[in-house]
Amino acid sequence: MRAARCDRYGPPDVVTVCDVADPLPARGEVLVEIRAAAVNFPDVLTVADKYQVSVPAPFTPGSEFAGVVRAVGADVRSVEPGDAVMGSAMTGAFAELICVPASALTPKPDDLDWVSAAAFRVTYTTAYHALVTFGAMRAGDWVVVLGAAGGVGTAAVDVATRLGARVIACASSEERLAAATKLGAEVGVSYDSEDLKTRIKEITGGGAQVVIDPVGGKYAEPALRALAPGGTFVTVGYAAGEIPRIPLNLVLLKDLTIRGVELRTLAKRHPDAPAHAQQTLAALVAEGMKPLVSQVFGLDDVTGALTSLNDRTAVGKVVIALDGAC
Ligand SMILES: NC(=O)c1ccc[n+]([C@@H]2O[C@H](COP(=O)([O-])OP(=O)(O)OC[C@H]3O[C@@H](n4cnc5c(N)ncnc54)[C@H](OP(=O)(O)O)[C@@H]3O)[C@@H](O)[C@H]2O)c1
Repeated sequence: MRAARCDRYGPPDVVTVCDVADPLPARGEVLVEIRAAAVNFPDVLTVADKYQVSVPAPFTPGSEFAGVVRAVGADVRSVEPGDAVMGSAMTGAFAELICVPASALTPKPDDLDWVSAAAFRVTYTTAYHALVTFGAMRAGDWVVVLGAAGGVGTAAVDVATRLGARVIACASSEERLAAATKLGAEVGVSYDSEDLKTRIKEITGGGAQVVIDPVGGKYAEPALRALAPGGTFVTVGYAAGEIPRIPLNLVLLKDLTIRGVELRTLAKRHPDAPAHAQQTLAALVAEGMKPLVSQVFGLDDVTGALTSLNDRTAVGKVVIALDGAC
């Protein structure tokens, strides 16, 4: 099969595409023919060996996909050959075939095409848990979304708006904010040219109820300072490359809550949460919700796809489409 390959760590252009042996499903595993794979920021970090978990090279990057079951290993009863599925894995999705445990797959909703299905699960599930499971967001709340033009950001704007929140989208330029306002954000703040704390306070009157932060760096503290008393700050990731250090007196003075989301380990710590997320997201998909996909690349241009996230130009999701995706 054709597969992307990371033989040594580095920027996106260290990734090549070559022929490798087809994988075979072991007991409990499923072999999936990939139709489309989405790019997530952790893929860029894994290739650079800057992710929380180091993956030994060589490996095939890619952590999210949609496709058709080709074969199942012993003891697999949840799916059968021909089923349309979407799934996630630590690595291996930028390839024609992938083997994953059956538990890593869910059925592809009929309402999502291959490209949308590949781009849906990681960002929308992360956004749901950030907003609802940890952010305790309620209809009518002011919700600030940092990195609102990115993958997690656009999903958070979309879900929050559909659940009745009033969204303040924050991104690095007016063009990037336009994507978030199209998804329903009420106001946009261009955080590289406007004072984030002052603008959020002006817009909300008394401060926001929830901040969703997939960016970190210099943006986190002013956003936290713009929370109303009793508000919740949810840390999701550090795309800016710097983990912020927050003065704890800010938390004390306004009775704030800081929570963190980690999708990889969430089900272990919160066993009931995934079912709630799946139920709500499935209902929203049936009403027409689908991810904003701005660019689709071929497998031979994995480097281009990873670069668009690395150089901060991607809007919404970037997807790699394989044969049969369209
Ligand atoms: N906790 C979890 O379970 C979980 C799950 C998924 C993702 N994540 C994390 O969430 C973060 C966002 O992931 P994503 O897939 O949404 O990424 P993305 O699509 O690339 O979005 C990240 C956004 O961050 C902003 N940004 C600010 N400084 C940046 C920089 N130096 N380089 C790149 N982007 C920068 C960019 O928007 P502007 O240019 O408009 O500022 C960009 O749109 C990542 O850190 C990822 O690891 C965490």
